[in-house]
Amino acid sequence: MAVQISPSILSADFARLADEAAAVPTADWLHVDVMDNHFVPNLTLGLPVVEALRKATSLPLDCHLMIENPDRWAPPYAEAGAGSVTIHAEAAGAPVRTLRQIRSLGARAGLALNPATAVEPYEDLLGEVDMLLLMTVEPGFGGQKFLDLVLPKIRRARDLIERHGGEIWLQVDGGVTSGTIERCAEAGADVFVAGSAVYGAGDPSAAVEALRAQATAAAHLSGGHRDRR
Ligand code: DX5
Ligand code: ZN
Repeated sequence: MAVQISPSILSADFARLADEAAAVPTADWLHVDVMDNHFVPNLTLGLPVVEALRKATSLPLDCHLMIENPDRWAPPYAEAGAGSVTIHAEAAGAPVRTLRQIRSLGARAGLALNPATAVEPYEDLLGEVDMLLLMTVEPGFGGQKFLDLVLPKIRRARDLIERHGGEIWLQVDGGVTSGTIERCAEAGADVFVAGSAVYGAGDPSAAVEALRAQATAAAHLSGGHRDRR
């Protein structure tokens, strides 16, 4: 799968979201961080803003729900037109049902794991997901330092995905910058969320292209995902 870049609007100017979406025409997705001040200690935005954003940009929305009770709240994000809806394994009470609902509403279904959550217990759920998101910081805030300790899990997740046919996207989120994206790509990630590295750059659109070029080169150098190890 080709490398994809999903700029996080958490690092954008919330008063100018339509302009900020338009500033990254080179992106594959727009990453929308939904935080409820319960699952994570921060509060961002919810359904009404996603509905408004849907009308304001042609970029597909990659909604990352850092919220309690995603079983209740994830389907409405798919109904609001999100292209992808990701729930946290730590918060979901009935992840199989919720992931199936997301898919049945026409969105891609994502499952996210915090840095301390192992991937192996979720192997049996891989048939239910279109994307696995591995957090490379503790969720809640942009601009944090990348956690290298997640790299072995990225490799193990890539191996699991290949054993299951290789179709599932492997996303990393948190501290992904020009200094860390190559490590992630080499380990097997193929979808990269970047907040401060994109919106903190003078030219966000050029930053997206530079990150994609770096990740693509690193993935090729490491022999592509299927041959890894
Ligand atoms: C963190 C969010 C991330 C955040 C990433 O909890 O899920 O999407 O925006 O920001 P950076 O790239 O600055 O670490
Ligand atoms: Zn996120």
